[in-house]
Amino acid sequence: MDSLGLCILLMVLCFQWTTAPAAEEITWTYTGLVGQTEWSEYFPDCAGNAQSPVEVVTTQTKYDPSLLPLTPLGYSQHGNKPFAMYNNGHTAVIELPEWMGLGGLPWLYTAVQMHLHWGSGGPSHGGGEHTVNEMSADAELHVVHYNSELYPNMSKAMTQSDGLAVLGILIVTGEETNLAFNNILNYLGRIRHADQKVFIPAFDVQTLLPEDLGRYFRYNGSLTTPPCHQSVTWTLFNERIQISPAQLLKLETILYSSKAEDPDRMLLQDNYRTTQPLNHRVVFASFSAESGRELTSGEVTAIVIGVMCGCVGLAVIIRFIVKTIRFFTLLHRESVVLGRPSQ
Ligand SMILES: *[C@@H]1O[C@H](CO)[C@@H](O)[C@H](O)[C@H]1NC(C)=O
Ligand SMILES: *[C@@H]1O[C@H](CO)[C@@H](O)[C@H](O)[C@H]1NC(C)=O
Repeated sequence: MDSLGLCILLMVLCFQWTTAPAAEEITWTYTGLVGQTEWSEYFPDCAGNAQSPVEVVTTQTKYDPSLLPLTPLGYSQHGNKPFAMYNNGHTAVIELPEWMGLGGLPWLYTAVQMHLHWGSGGPSHGGGEHTVNEMSADAELHVVHYNSELYPNMSKAMTQSDGLAVLGILIVTGEETNLAFNNILNYLGRIRHADQKVFIPAFDVQTLLPEDLGRYFRYNGSLTTPPCHQSVTWTLFNERIQISPAQLLKLETILYSSKAEDPDRMLLQDNYRTTQPLNHRVVFASFSAESGRELTSGEVTAIVIGVMCGCVGLAVIIRFIVKTIRFFTLLHRESVVLGRPSQ
C-alpha cells in the first residue's frame, strides 16, 4: 500500500471514529439524558405523526362491524421446547415459537416475542402505555407478530407500514393471583440484571389474554420504544386482565436496567411511554363502545336496588301528598263548618 492509500485509510478510520455512534448503540432510557423527549434526536421515527401509545376516547372511536374476533393461532400448542426470556435493560422479553401466530387480519402474522411495561408506585399509579378515557392501567403486555406472508423476518418487517401486528393487553390490580402470569413472574429473579437470559418452561400463552377477544380497539401506530417505526397494526383489547398486588409489586421491583457488572444498580421501573398525539388517525372499535356494553352482575344488582329504592321513595312521597291533600281538605271543611255561625 502506498502512502496515499495509507493516508486515505487513516482518514476514513478517523472519520468513522469521530462520527456519532450508530443509533442502535445509543443507550436510551425513559427519563434522563436520552429520555423520551430526546429519543427523536437519535431515532427520527419517534417524532413521526402516527406514534404509539395513544389515549383512546371511547366516544370518539368509530365502530367497524367488519372487525371480527381475533384468533390466536397455536398459542395453546406450546410444545416442550422452553421459551427464552431475557432482560434487555428496558423490559423482560419472552421469545415465542414461530408456529404461534394471529388470524383475523388481512395477512398472516407470526409471533416473535412478548414483553411488559410497568410503573413503580403500586396499584393505580400508572405503568400501562395505552390509556382509555384517561384511565391508566398498572401494566401492559405486548405480544409482537410480524407479517410473514410479505416479509422474510422481523427486522425486515419492522420498517414496513404493514409489517407488524401487536396485541396490547391492559393489566390492572385485583384481589386474585393470576396463575398464568406466574409462568413469567416466577423466573424474573433469574434475569435481574440487563443481558441475563433464562429458559423457562413453555406454557399456554393464550391464558395470559383476556377471555373476550371480540371487543378491541384497532389503529395504525408504532413501536412504543426506539426506533419507533410506524409499522404496527395495533389491537388493544377492551377487557383488562388482573394480577394481584403482590404480583404487581414483584414486577415493579425485581429487575434492574443495569448490568450485573455495573457498580451502580438501577431498578428497571416506569418503562412506559407517554401517550402520543392521535393527529389525523381514527381509532376503530370492533364493538359499539357506548350502547353495546354488557352489564356486570354488580351493575345489575345496583340497578335493581336503585329501582326498588326509587319505587319505595315514590310511594312514600305519593302517600305524603295524598295525606297532605286530605288534611287540607279536612281543614277547609272544618273551617267552613266553624266559620258559619259568625256570618
Ligand atoms: C432478514 O431478511 C433480510 C432480507 O431478506 C436479510 O437481508 C436479513 O439478513 C434478514 N435478517 C435476519 C436477522 O435474518
Ligand atoms: C392503516 O393504514 C392502512 C394504509 O394506509 C389503511 O388501509 C388502513 O385502513 C389503516 N387502518 C386503520 C385501522 O386505521
